[in-house]
Amino acid sequence: MHGIGRSVSGIASQGSALRLPSKGRPCVASRSALVTPSGMPLTKTSPIIMDGQVLHSISEERLELCRGLHDYMRDEVNPILKPVEKCWQPTDFLPASEDPDFLDKVHDLRQRSTCLPDDYLVVFAGDMITEEALPTYMTMLNTLDGVRDETGAAKTAWGIWTRAWTAEENRHGDIMNKYMYLTGRMNMRAVEVTIQNLIGSGMDPKTENNPYLGFIYTSFQERATKISHGNTARHALEHGDDILAKICGSIASDEARHEQAYQKIVDKLFELDPDGSMVAFGDMMKKQIVMPAHLMDDNVHKANTGRNLFADFSAVAERTGTYTAFDYADIMDHLIKRWHIADLSVGAGDAAASQEYVLKLPNRIRKLAERANARKDKGKKSNFSWVFGREVLLNTV
Ligand SMILES: [Fe+2]
Ligand SMILES: [Fe+2]
Repeated sequence: MHGIGRSVSGIASQGSALRLPSKGRPCVASRSALVTPSGMPLTKTSPIIMDGQVLHSISEERLELCRGLHDYMRDEVNPILKPVEKCWQPTDFLPASEDPDFLDKVHDLRQRSTCLPDDYLVVFAGDMITEEALPTYMTMLNTLDGVRDETGAAKTAWGIWTRAWTAEENRHGDIMNKYMYLTGRMNMRAVEVTIQNLIGSGMDPKTENNPYLGFIYTSFQERATKISHGNTARHALEHGDDILAKICGSIASDEARHEQAYQKIVDKLFELDPDGSMVAFGDMMKKQIVMPAHLMDDNVHKANTGRNLFADFSAVAERTGTYTAFDYADIMDHLIKRWHIADLSVGAGDAAASQEYVLKLPNRIRKLAERANARKDKGKKSNFSWVFGREVLLNTV
């Protein structure tokens, strides 16, 4: 996940600028019907609600189904992770601090990074902060019923996945942070304050401890981060920092493997329980994918600008074409294709309604995004602590 990946813009990021109309209460996989067409009975009809958040919404039968995926996880999904010895490490991209010419190499790095404009740095900072909040994402996976790592060192395929995935992801924030520190281009203290605040705030992806919802969320989010890091790689190359381009590209290729893994889990859910999976997909899309860093705060942005830091970061990501509402719609299209939603045979009722809703959604999102773009305050700027309070353009002029 971009880290469960990050995030981003307009509709994609906040869910406030472009709120999707939805009818009534959201449907939830476990409460969609008392008996599904595939004959799966549902034992849980009343969800637990705490502080307005729905908890443990999955039924016993679906929980069993998830537990039954253990061997599939072990044989088909976990091998998508790379053995440690085959993984890149942050130091592969950095001047070796034990080398006698370390300082010369740092000098070269700093020279090279002078080409990076402030808007690139702001987007990179937001992406890095998102990656650095990895403890939150590991926690999120370990809230999921039936698949969580019960001990912290569980030998189950699920526990092994979660720890190894986290370990792969940990390199992302690490390399981004070290590289930016060496460039001298970013106010690292402001970045660190934002990271500490974000981890302290956590996130509520609205996945209800429900692995169906959780893995749909991560399927979406890993693809979002792949797109975003792929674009920061391309932009770094255009600006003239080829090493930074390689760094971002290497992160994007990790995200691509992670995306495959999570989508493979959901492939199986659709195969074994098309109705429940369809309702879960519709539910996550109705609620919108909450971006992992939506609670970011640098302690000064609001006071200085009267604006929300995450919204402003998202606006810059959108304007620079790093991650946009159109990417959000494209990710939906990808998932619709991947899970054969148009051809999926589901029973009448909630599953059919979800299917219809999901199939229409990408184009609705694109229309809403076009309208939102037309309404944007052209030429609007904001100051970012991450680049020493300098002004950065939010919307095109
Ligand atoms: Fe990721
Ligand atoms: Fe990541």
